Order: sequence, then structure tokens, then C-alpha cells
Amino acid sequence: MANIIEIASGVQWLGARHPDLKVFDELFPTRRGTTYNSYLVRGTEKTALIDTVKGPFTEDFLDRVRSQVPLEEIDLVVVNHTEPDHSGALGRLLELNPNIVVYCTRPGENFLKQLFEQPMNTQVVAEGDEIDLGGKTLRFILAPYLHWPDTMFTYLVEDQILFSCDAFGAHFCSDGLFDDELEDFSQEFDHYFDAIMRPFKDKIREAVAKVENLPIELIAPSHGPVRRRDPKAAIARYGELAMAPPACAGKRALVLTLSPHGNTRTMAASVRKGLEAQGVEVAEFSIVDTEPETIRDELERADALVVGSPTINRDAPPPVWQALSLLSTITPKGKVAAVFGSFGWSGEAVKLIEERLRGLKFTLVAPGLAYRFKPTEDDIQTCLEFGNEVGKAMLES
Ligand code: FEO
Repeated sequence: MANIIEIASGVQWLGARHPDLKVFDELFPTRRGTTYNSYLVRGTEKTALIDTVKGPFTEDFLDRVRSQVPLEEIDLVVVNHTEPDHSGALGRLLELNPNIVVYCTRPGENFLKQLFEQPMNTQVVAEGDEIDLGGKTLRFILAPYLHWPDTMFTYLVEDQILFSCDAFGAHFCSDGLFDDELEDFSQEFDHYFDAIMRPFKDKIREAVAKVENLPIELIAPSHGPVRRRDPKAAIARYGELAMAPPACAGKRALVLTLSPHGNTRTMAASVRKGLEAQGVEVAEFSIVDTEPETIRDELERADALVVGSPTINRDAPPPVWQALSLLSTITPKGKVAAVFGSFGWSGEAVKLIEERLRGLKFTLVAPGLAYRFKPTEDDIQTCLEFGNEVGKAMLES
């Protein structure tokens, strides 16, 4: 397995492999480990590194750099993204060569100041800025929120290489580096998008528009394979994955329910009637019977989220919290919500869910509705009015 791989004349991959990684960032399971890609770009006048590697891999990484060029001859490091899996070796590198200039975005500079206490010679770049290394021109393309505020791409003009950092990457570690040397990793590519990029679909669409017409020979991301077989296919796939959800003719409410004894679902039926009476389209799902992917898609489409939950042991049951945790993986279309549910003897769930949704910047458009055991006829009528109230608020929002 080569530790240094030339990806174009004067451009070398000297990243770190992490094949036994099981959970990236202690959050996202990885079936095939990952890599932290860093690239050395040598012009006739200047030498640049594009990103570095995660902290624990620093010394081996610096040895690889030294094997190609003395550290004191590195002029600049481009930090496409400050997250420590890419900037982890930067501090040690700057200790060894404090003259290095760090190129980054304005948010990137702010984050670097907070991540590193040492002095750092930074150069903030703007859209389209270029630096000539001598026969190799680095052009900066801002791509904020892919997936942090600081993110950008760097385009090597002469070789038509797009260094895209996290975007177009995948958690996939193998002996090979180029996509055409590897088995299919499309599942890892899509999974990476879902785990890391999906909440920023609108920003991804903007970034895709900036690069889809660029001449590109290689996409060199900071995780996983370098794309050379059909690099534009990776960009096109991001365009597909980041498409806006299908539009509805009118307003759409997502009603999610969990109902061990059927009482909360009885309430839901009446809430639904109230919503529909206002002309609102209702998508109703049982949380335990619905795949998370479906719930996530529906959360993205809905103009309002209406949650029906029982109280079990003074709390909403774990599947309800799991469903709500999907909100962090998307950009919800609507920020209007309401909560109801039946309970046995305490009934905390409705208020706890309301608090959670308020914390996520949802507006609760009707006071939470909670009934003990089976709702009465009067309660059913109130559920109808509750649905009406939510529907009216949706139409006004
Ligand atoms: Fe691979 Fe956002 O760091």
C-alpha cells in the first residue's frame, strides 16, 4: 500500500489511512474506515499543502511530507475546512515552520483562532482569489456550510483538480486511492452525504452550481477515493441528493404518533379531521411502523409537525425522541408544530416534546393537549378544534 501517491504531475496525496475506524466522530458508523486526505502541490515558486490530517496521525504525516520536501520549504497551507480531522496536524506543522501562511475563509480564520492558541499567519480569501505557485494556480471557491460555515473548495487551474474537502467524499479506506481502482463505494458516498451534508441541501445546490461547469479532471476530497473515472458524476449525484423535496399544492402537516393502547391514535384521528377541515394535506405515520428514512423525508416536506405521544415513565418513549432526532439531519421546511397525547398517571411527554421543539426554533401554534387514558367525546371534539387551530395557523404562516 503506497503511502504517497502522485495524482498529477507535482501533486501528491500524502494523507492518512484509518481503516479500522468504526464510528466517525463517535457519531457515524463507518463500514470501511476512512482516510484523511492531504495533498502537496509544488509550483516552481511555492509549495502548498491542501489540508492536513487528524491529530493522532500527525507525526507519520509530517514524515511523509519531509520525505518529499523539507518542512521549511512549505510556503502555505490551504485550510479548506477547519474541523480537526483536517486541521489536526496544523499546529505541529506551524511549530516546525512558523513562516507558513494559512489560507482560509473568514469563518475559518475565526475557528482557527479558537482551535489553536499559537500565533498563526493567516490570509483570508474571497471568492475567485488566486495564488500562483509558479505554473500551478490555486483558485478559491467559497462553499459555505458544506458542512461548516468555514468551508471552501480549492481548484488547481492548470491540472483541473478540485480539492473539495468533505464534499464529494466518502468514508472508505482501501489500498487504492483512485475510484477506478476500487470496488463500488456508492453506498458509502450516499451514506456520507446523508450523515454529513444533507442538512445543508440549499447550500449544496449553490455549490454544485458553482462547479458543475468547471473543467475537472480529478475531484480530490478529504475523505476517501479521488474521483478520476467520471468526476462530474459525483457532482451530479450531489445535485440529485440535494434536490428540494416535492412541492405540495397546499399546506402539508406531518402527524407522527406513538400509541401503545390506541388512545393517542384516537386523538390523532380527530386532530387530522380538524387539519383537513382547513384544507391542509395530512401525512400520518406510526413512528414505530415507519422507516427513519421515510420520517426524515416527510419532515423535510411538511409545513407543520404534529406529534402525538404517550407518557411512559414520566417521559416520551425513546422512539419519539429518535424520530425527533432526525430533525438535526435535515433542513425542515416548516417550523410550526403542535403536540398532543394520552397518558396514564403523570403526562409529562407533551410538555417535554414542546420544550424540545421550542429549542429547535419551532413555533408551537396550539397549546399542547393531554388527556388521561381514553379521550371522552368532549375530548375528541377538543382534538378536532386543536387540529382546526393548527391548520389555521399553518394557512396564516
Ligand atoms: Fe471531515 Fe467536517 O470534517
